[in-house]
Amino acid sequence: MTDEPLTENRMPHPASRPSGPFRVGDRVQLTGPKGRLHTITLRPGGELHTHHGVLRHEQLIGVPDGSVVEGSGGHEYLALRPLLRDFVMSMPRGAAIVYPKDAAQILAEADVFPGATVVEAGVGSGALSLWLLRAVGASGRLVSFERRADFADVAKANVETFFGEMPANWDVVVGDLVEALPETVGAASVDRVVLDMLAPWECIDAVADALTPGGVVVCYVATATQLSRVAEYIRTTGLFTEPDASETMVRGWHVEGLAVRPDHRMVAHTGFLLWARRLAPGAIPPERKRRASKSSYSDEDVELWTPGAVGDREITDKNLRKRVREARRAAEGARQAAAADEDGRAE
Ligand SMILES: C[S@@+](CC[C@H](N)C(=O)[O-])C[C@H]1O[C@@H](n2cnc3c(N)ncnc32)[C@H](O)[C@@H]1O
Repeated sequence: MTDEPLTENRMPHPASRPSGPFRVGDRVQLTGPKGRLHTITLRPGGELHTHHGVLRHEQLIGVPDGSVVEGSGGHEYLALRPLLRDFVMSMPRGAAIVYPKDAAQILAEADVFPGATVVEAGVGSGALSLWLLRAVGASGRLVSFERRADFADVAKANVETFFGEMPANWDVVVGDLVEALPETVGAASVDRVVLDMLAPWECIDAVADALTPGGVVVCYVATATQLSRVAEYIRTTGLFTEPDASETMVRGWHVEGLAVRPDHRMVAHTGFLLWARRLAPGAIPPERKRRASKSSYSDEDVELWTPGAVGDREITDKNLRKRVREARRAAEGARQAAAADEDGRAE
């Protein structure tokens, strides 16, 4: 890693400027009649042709973000700069991307801060790279590892499209993290590491060497078996704090007049997060007082989890008939109470 100080010309390009009037080179999302979306990059003399007519780019240059412009056919378009989440969801994908809901949580659990030195692997389509680059800011540095050159190319193109040029504080290394990490960064020089790959446990030793004491590793995995395997591996190294894990579910709501309810559809599963902090060399954390671990199981445990043992006993026919009678009695009682209440009000 270079110790070269960050200077003006090494700052990320401001093409991803998030506000101000539209300028040449800006991407603009146009929502047309019936909600149809068009994304254009503004250029002098540029035109958008649809079957509703023509919209000249000049009509947008210099106007404020959030303006409404009219095409030649009289159709109106709402013009907005795409947000980062809009961009990542529509950009070309080589590998599956980290969704915005998980990216936000990764930034929080990894505690990514402006000025941080962050390592990520694999880079895939570059979705997480974009969030990390934004979070480390101009004074930070991101080093992304990807073993597939073709995926790295997709990621680089996506990041360049978003920022308008390749951010000077971003390095993409093509190679396997286990071999490439020690060749690229110094021991104990990295603040945060994010692993989004099939087998993160294979990289934990290399990550432990690269992380600074107190640094954070976050693993993003798709399945419960991967989650358990990486957690157990991290524990066996004795080099990290006890790992924590979570899953983020975001349920959208429809809020319109009196129709206020959860959306019918949601992205139910993407992945799990697991995070831990690097201990100082030689540090042995004070032993936590815990109840006996259930991480391994015996025949006795299996017996304990049978429905009878956990109180979920199978009901006999006789018992069931008794419950039906009880339920009917309760319903009859409720009916009588309601009738008495009505009589009382009528008097
Ligand atoms: C799910 S994708 C990452 C997606 C990415 N985080 C994004 O948001 O676009 C996983 C990537 O990890 C890469 N990969 C897997 N193991 C790796 C390793 N040991 N070193 C480097 N890259 C690895 C794969 O080639 C794949 O592109």
